[in-house]
Amino acid sequence: MINLSNVTVIHGKRTLFKNAGFLIRPGDKIGLVGPHGAGKTTVFRLIVGEETPHSGEISINAEIVIGYFSQHAGEMSGRSALEEVLTEAGKVHRIGLQLHELEHRMADPEDGLSDAEMEHYGKLQEEFMHHLGGYETKTRAQTILNGLSIGPDRWDQPVEAFSGGWKMRIALARILVLQPDVLLCDEPTNYRDVASREVLLEALQEFDGTVLLVSHDRYFLHHLANRVFEIDHGRLVTYEGDDDSSLRKRAETVPVA
Ligand SMILES: Nc1ncnc2c1ncn2[C@@H]1O[C@H](COP(=O)(O)OP(=O)(O)OP(=O)(O)O)[C@@H](O)[C@H]1O
Ligand SMILES: [Mg+2]
Repeated sequence: MINLSNVTVIHGKRTLFKNAGFLIRPGDKIGLVGPHGAGKTTVFRLIVGEETPHSGEISINAEIVIGYFSQHAGEMSGRSALEEVLTEAGKVHRIGLQLHELEHRMADPEDGLSDAEMEHYGKLQEEFMHHLGGYETKTRAQTILNGLSIGPDRWDQPVEAFSGGWKMRIALARILVLQPDVLLCDEPTNYRDVASREVLLEALQEFDGTVLLVSHDRYFLHHLANRVFEIDHGRLVTYEGDDDSSLRKRAETVPVA
């Protein structure tokens, strides 16, 4: 799904990692660990294309949808909780409008679609139905909020009225509603309340796609990860294994700065 090979990243005079590589497969639940400033967020930025490496290659299956829960995911304002969850799904609406227009032209005997347009229509429809669930987005948003213990009475409250842990849930819902294949989570457990942490862990465990999670939280890594990527002095080391307790021990020995 996602493959990094021989990637070198240099910031100013500092080489963050040299010739690093890994392969992320469907269903992997990966803990990405390493000390502060090691380059964990940089790995995410490389994957989503916000940063380009000095050298090396990053290849990503064009069909996958990546959801990025960044370290700043909790910053939001000016909308209700439900609206906030639907912001990213806005593109569903846009695709819906395009489909509608193409369907309209298809039905018009004076008009009709070219082969290229038919192909475009097929692709749009696939994206609409598969990743975005098209017509049911709002219902899905509501179901996801409910699942994160944000009930109907709170859907219309302004996001500012929610505290950190609750904002985190809204931010997570905003991503889950897109039904991504891969979820990149950057230190979501910074929101320290225990209930939110549990809710988040459960949501990630239930998520049936791939997870790449940055966390300093041993409990989280222990209960979620079946692989570990560790950035250590400019090297990126990957530990394989499904339910391997030695692997997990390794994850637990990572220094917590
Ligand atoms: N655009 C940039 N230009 C120069 N240096 C940068 C840039 N972005 C990040 N850095 C530096 O690169 C290093 C790696 O940053 P990164 O944010 O990836 O680390 P991290 O492992 O996510 O850290 P943390 O655990 O604190 O979130 C840091 O030392 C940071 O100061
Ligand atoms: Mg970071």
